Amino acid sequence: MRKVNIFDTTLRDGEQSAGVNLNIVEKIEIAKQLERLGVDVIEAGFPASSQGDFQAVEAIAKTIKNSSVTGLARSITRDIDSAWEALKHSEEPRIHIFLATSPIHMKYKLRKSPDEVLKNAVESVKYAKQKFPIVQWSAEDACRSDRDFLVKIVTEVIKAGASVINLPDTVGYITPKEYGELFEYIQSKVPNIDQAILSAHCHDDLGMATANTLSAIEHGVLQVEGCINGIGERAGNVALEEVAVALHIREDYYQATTRLKLDEIKRTSQLISKLTGMVVPGNKAIVGANAFAHESGIHQDGVLKEASTYEIITPELVGFSSNRLVLGKHSGRHAFKERAIELGFDLEQEKLNEAFQAFKELTDRKKEITDDDLFAILTDKQTDP
Ligand code: KIV
Ligand code: ZN
Repeated sequence: MRKVNIFDTTLRDGEQSAGVNLNIVEKIEIAKQLERLGVDVIEAGFPASSQGDFQAVEAIAKTIKNSSVTGLARSITRDIDSAWEALKHSEEPRIHIFLATSPIHMKYKLRKSPDEVLKNAVESVKYAKQKFPIVQWSAEDACRSDRDFLVKIVTEVIKAGASVINLPDTVGYITPKEYGELFEYIQSKVPNIDQAILSAHCHDDLGMATANTLSAIEHGVLQVEGCINGIGERAGNVALEEVAVALHIREDYYQATTRLKLDEIKRTSQLISKLTGMVVPGNKAIVGANAFAHESGIHQDGVLKEASTYEIITPELVGFSSNRLVLGKHSGRHAFKERAIELGFDLEQEKLNEAFQAFKELTDRKKEITDDDLFAILTDKQTDP
């Protein structure tokens, strides 16, 4: 079983979600919960980007003991120096340097030739390596980069001291098959690749971030980067809870595992949703309010007989106390009776049938029936002569 490291960037890429702004106290609270969740690396921010980010990264680096803490830096000495000042007290100082490698980014954003980018990447990694024991290097927009240029630059940054190589799908463009092939290509062509571990970093612009990340794992990456609840720049980063639970549930297929305490997922998700103000959609995989809710009568009947008929994940696995049978117009007698008993009503069959009829009539007027509605119907039938 391969162990895949979880690199959480909720506090850096996640905070880049439009409208999100966390203060230092909130960031420390999130970092402590990420540590409890068991993430391997916490990307706490981008120290050179603002005084506030610097202070938050420094405070988190001093506080967190059971996860590594890292900070982002451009390929410039000022950013690397600032990251060192913020991270030098952490248990295992680690820097994350990035530089764009795609023709579009090199030409329009960096205004540098590929040779200049190569030189810049090598120099910055060598500079960082003088201080940091662990240097991660990211080829920004790797998935729209020339593969042979990637081979060349990855070979050189590993020689310069990088021990983690990240190939991000910065704009959420690649497909799962292509992403897997990219990692295969890099592993087959970079001669010193055994001196580094490969990392995946997926954005969700085309809704493929989870599939892409899992494909990368199938093709040899040992670190995956993302955010809880899938928050992040534009359409967000991969939702780490989806990747971790997929690996767990389909261990037979992926043969890979993480160190995450899966039953801390719900708590982490809710904390991040509360502090960022980003509401988790009801149908969101793993952490949505409906992820363990069953509405149709056929499903409710199945779940009441044996939960695994319609649940591949137990709610308890990810920290929910139980599943939820939602009473609505598709619900059947079985679920209705169970709920009536839970509410303290043990009606004889005829009364129960009448109550069920009244409930069905109400569902044509109301989407979701509350316990108060049920209570009114059941009391009415119980007291009916
Ligand atoms: O998406 C991206 O390319 C990034 C890099 C900074 C790693 O977030
Ligand atoms: Zn990103």
